[in-house]
Amino acid sequence: KVLILDFGSQYTQLIARRVRELNIFCEIFPFNSKNFELTNYKAVILSGSPSSVRTEEAPKPDLSKIKGKLPLLGVCFGAQYMAHNYGGKVAASNTREYGRANLSFVKSNESFFEGVNEGSQVWMSHSDTIVDLPENAELIASTHDVKNAAFKLTNETTFGIQFHPEVYHSKDGLKILSNFLVNIAKVKQDWTPDSFVESTVQKLKEQLGNDKVVLGLSGGVDSTVAATLLSKAIGDNLYCIFVNNGLLRKNEFENVLSQYKGMGLNVKGVDASARFLKELAEEADPEGKRKIIGRVFIEVFDDEAHLIEDVKWLAQGTIYPDVIESVSATGGPSATIKSHHNVGGLPDFMKLKIVEPLKMLFKDEVRRVGASLGIDSELLGRHPFPGPGLAIRILGDITAEKVRILQEVDAIFINGLKEWGLYNDVWQAGAILLPVNSVGVMGDERTYEKVVALRAVESTDGMTADWVNLPYEFLQKTSNQIINGVKGVNRVVYDISSKPPATIEWE
Ligand code: XMP
Repeated sequence: KVLILDFGSQYTQLIARRVRELNIFCEIFPFNSKNFELTNYKAVILSGSPSSVRTEEAPKPDLSKIKGKLPLLGVCFGAQYMAHNYGGKVAASNTREYGRANLSFVKSNESFFEGVNEGSQVWMSHSDTIVDLPENAELIASTHDVKNAAFKLTNETTFGIQFHPEVYHSKDGLKILSNFLVNIAKVKQDWTPDSFVESTVQKLKEQLGNDKVVLGLSGGVDSTVAATLLSKAIGDNLYCIFVNNGLLRKNEFENVLSQYKGMGLNVKGVDASARFLKELAEEADPEGKRKIIGRVFIEVFDDEAHLIEDVKWLAQGTIYPDVIESVSATGGPSATIKSHHNVGGLPDFMKLKIVEPLKMLFKDEVRRVGASLGIDSELLGRHPFPGPGLAIRILGDITAEKVRILQEVDAIFINGLKEWGLYNDVWQAGAILLPVNSVGVMGDERTYEKVVALRAVESTDGMTADWVNLPYEFLQKTSNQIINGVKGVNRVVYDISSKPPATIEWE
């Protein structure tokens, strides 16, 4: 496997995903982490960083156990750090070194650039630049503006590149990574969904033996894939619990439950809608709603788990982006994700051990593993849906009637997207019930009814998002269908805000 040392670049996870695309397993650790064992790795990649090597605060990793001993590739900051450290010179750059550039020189017969020609487009993003290479370094590529775009240390498999091979705009980026990892470092390409399933099922069997495991299914991709893997390993010793909090999509509970049963999962559906709605009555504050839902979910889940005699483990669908150690102690997904009840883990009163079969996978890998397990593609392609469900799409307080209205509106919108073949072009979509009435006219009657907003966004990870340019005709049809079909709604609007500055959910 491959080690990626993170210096805080926004692209570090992208490097890992690209490496995994080559069917090579890799792990990310902060450059100063003590939690990895070098002997386990066949090659090392140094990430970029927002820091400058010329500053005091810059990361200063000790590479003495790596350089010259393992194939090593420094990207951007990683390359500058090596240049700076091994006798070269790094300075603030005079020209803009952001965005597209083209290689104007590529050393011929250099296996690192095999199949990459002059003119190849690369992506630059740095404000420092390597002015002088170390003495024992050889220049292997340049762009028009950046002479020292890539170098190699002589008699070593140590490379530095100032552009980013991991971003899509570096057209030959994957080829370069493949040249380095497969041809030069000779890393095996054995990380495939099938091999993951096989080895994980084996490991789970050994780890769990005849123990009983409880898992909360949500209808989402992660928990479904986790359950299927576990069920393959331990069969009916996996006890799945699927809770209806009354805030799911229309008919979702019944449909998904029967789908789960059809997949052979040992699953119990628990309809706790009345309990959730009662506890939520009159709560209008978004965070208040989230807290109530999180607490009640844990209570319901715990009651159910207690019914399983002698259960030893709690399984969770945690994925890699949730567990990657972050370079900054305060920021990063690992810090923020903890407030979400569905990954927060173990309530104190349940003394269960945790098993997380997906915790080394990126989201796209979870889907590929799901496909290799034979899970229905429609289930795998579902949009994300927030744990608190429709509660955070009903602005203000929640009543059974409002839930009903929103479920109807949402179903028309989502089914429409599917019928029009738009569903898979959208990352997430839903409807929001606004806490205002507006005046309308139906026939000769004046109406004073609810406004709903439709939201559809494109995104890769939910961190940033943009609204989708849905066809006017589709919006027109959907709006008609909603206003004519859902009693209590007389106006439909479409949300055209990007994130940032707006968020995807309205609460
Ligand atoms: P925002 O609204 O923050 O949403 O742009 C980003 C993504 O997170 C989902 N989301 C949640 N998921 N519990 C969840 O499980 C929550 O409390 C929650 N709030 C937002 C949202 O649906 C979007 O995919």
